[in-house]
Amino acid sequence: MPNKKANITEVVLRDGQQSLIATRMKTSDMLPVLKLLDKVGYSSLEVWGGATYDCCLRYLNENPWDRLKVFKKHIKKTKLQMLLRGKNLVGYKEYDDSVISLFIKNAVKEGINIFRIFDSLNDINNIKSSIEYVNREGENSQGTICYTTSPVHNEKYWITLAKNIEDIGAKSLAIKDMAGLLRPNVGFELIKKLKKNLKIPIYLHTHSTTGLADATNLKAYEAGVDNIDTSISSFSNLYAHTATESFISMIYKDSDNPFDMKLLTKIAEYFQSIRPKYIQYEGSMRGVDINMLLYQVPGGMLSILEKQLVDLKKQDRLKDLIDEIPKIREDVGYVPLVTPSSQIVGAQALMNVLDNERYKTLNKEFIDLVNGKYGKIPGKVNKKLLNKIDKNILDESNENFTIDSYKKDFSEFCKSNDLKDFSNKETDLLNYILFPKESKEYYLSLNKHTWNDVVGLQEGFGLFIE
Ligand code: CO
Repeated sequence: MPNKKANITEVVLRDGQQSLIATRMKTSDMLPVLKLLDKVGYSSLEVWGGATYDCCLRYLNENPWDRLKVFKKHIKKTKLQMLLRGKNLVGYKEYDDSVISLFIKNAVKEGINIFRIFDSLNDINNIKSSIEYVNREGENSQGTICYTTSPVHNEKYWITLAKNIEDIGAKSLAIKDMAGLLRPNVGFELIKKLKKNLKIPIYLHTHSTTGLADATNLKAYEAGVDNIDTSISSFSNLYAHTATESFISMIYKDSDNPFDMKLLTKIAEYFQSIRPKYIQYEGSMRGVDINMLLYQVPGGMLSILEKQLVDLKKQDRLKDLIDEIPKIREDVGYVPLVTPSSQIVGAQALMNVLDNERYKTLNKEFIDLVNGKYGKIPGKVNKKLLNKIDKNILDESNENFTIDSYKKDFSEFCKSNDLKDFSNKETDLLNYILFPKESKEYYLSLNKHTWNDVVGLQEGFGLFIE
């Protein structure tokens, strides 16, 4: 008798391509393979959120909501999943509850079933309202632990946090190991304890950057984790995830495999065929990057900082920069390094190194982080650093825009540019609220780009492999 199918979330359409080709994959390149993905029997497909929303508008001249419509149209059986940055939604600043509620209502309406909701500081106050709104819509609110290691992040800390996430109403829990720090045996013990202490299902999301992911996923499976995230082989490993086919082969023999490996091979071949189009967005990583294990610096963050140093002709300072990041992280109470804290700590580290003096120049976002504007810091902030920060610079730019004020702005913009009034449609309004500058350019371009869009879609249809 065939084994029960393991619960696997395929992440190629969101995190796989986000990690490997800087989120540049076009909808027209996803479209031809959607029906095949729907046949596999994945527990869910992670397709939306994270950086994909931003990149659709900023780089691809696409409306992210139209992409979601395409997914919903072609994926009939499999649940659709997205990544949400708590109060920051899919943006980089905090939004009012009215915006969060409007966003979630529309995302559910357009087809999202599972919302993985995280906060970079693991402050549950920053994920609470999103969880409530998802519950109100009757979908799966997945509270998230952003995994990191530090003197304050021990097993007791994680269990307490997970219990709190369950208590505020999350329907499932994700361990999000964005930097590939979770060691196999630590993961095994953690999942065993979480399974004992929690009633809700546990999902694991880890990255291959440090080379631990395959072993960690397997041990997590043995410990009874409810769901594993993988990415199809031709978009796996490096900055991304364990390959879907490899994970399946770890847990099943050929004779008892409930997954159709031929179907998976077809999917892998399709993605392999389109990957060369995006070669200019591939990172420089070869093999495994152990910097994160040694210095606590995520691979993706390191490559961005390295590029900034090269642009400034200061590449000789890379080692100083790598040394500076863990020091800053200690000074600010061991924040996990994930959007937006990773960008904030990275930018401050760059300042400290270029100034040849620590905290001589302070970024506004860094001051806000230290002062708790992004949420509660996990550990203690260094006293010397606190003294350096003048509390008077705080909060002066705390503009609180309402939905109505955005709507009025957007409507005026449309009118003054001879566009139809997009502000009346909630999803268009949300684009404007989240990314005003990028949205203006996108809506202005609609008149010009019709022909390109048609060509793009035809290209996609030409590759239809079913
Ligand atoms: Co990820």
